[in-house]
Amino acid sequence: MTSHPTTAPAMAHGEAQPSPSHLPIHIAVIMDGNGRWATARGLPRIEGHRRGVEALRNLVRAADTRGIRYLTVYSFSSENWRRPAEEVSELLGLLRFFIRQDVADLSARNVCVRIIGRRDDLPDDIGALLREAETSTAQNTGLTLIIAFNYGARDELLRATQTLAARIIAGDLAISDMTEQHLTDALDTAGLPDPDLLIRTSGEVRLSNFLMWQLAYTEMVFLPVAWPDFDADALDGALVEFSHRQRRFGGLSLDTSIQTKVTA
Ligand code: FPP
Repeated sequence: MTSHPTTAPAMAHGEAQPSPSHLPIHIAVIMDGNGRWATARGLPRIEGHRRGVEALRNLVRAADTRGIRYLTVYSFSSENWRRPAEEVSELLGLLRFFIRQDVADLSARNVCVRIIGRRDDLPDDIGALLREAETSTAQNTGLTLIIAFNYGARDELLRATQTLAARIIAGDLAISDMTEQHLTDALDTAGLPDPDLLIRTSGEVRLSNFLMWQLAYTEMVFLPVAWPDFDADALDGALVEFSHRQRRFGGLSLDTSIQTKVTA
């Protein structure tokens, strides 16, 4: 796991933009509230998801402009299959559309696309599209956009555990030699730094099975805005909030005037 300690600067709340030295390297986002956004307007839920894709496009642009290096978005959870078949089918359709329509443009802007989540039970055409999105952008060196699709943290941890168990049985790894790093490297997010900031929209305050290993020391910002209304100003507000947080990673305050032991 890579961590990026920051100290909170002495800044007044209410400023529009945080200093670049206090920006998160990696932002994870739970894009929640599409359905409620649509229902409140008398629209079908799918309209909320469509507007959600537009908000995602804007977020990628805004994050890139602000120098964010990694952006992980929760687009479909391993539990979302429990929704009505029509909504599932429409969400799959939106993913197909997004990959076909947007990946070339993202690639032209030097964005590298990576997908996390279980692949073996996806429709064949979606599996192929996801591979194509990754291979066609793999050499890009700008923002890395990580799309969590058919993703659940418990499922990811289970698959990682199976991988490590297979290595132990094969004699490639001794149980006594196992470290946190072995598990980190067996996750879908291998090679990525842990998120510094998690944003969840729609007012819900929970993780919903998202990146549970990787979020251990992540700063969290929960916003009342529904995802389709999330814009660059909302991102800047979250970045300013992040810049005021003191990160200690279970250690002592980096501010030597405060020598209180912090217990995480
Ligand atoms: C949560 O809102 C959102 C989702 C389950 C899907 C998020 C998907 C998108 C933003 C669009 C698809 C993304 C890609 C990459 C194509 P909700 O439906 O749970 O809202 P509710 O809680 O108000 O019902």
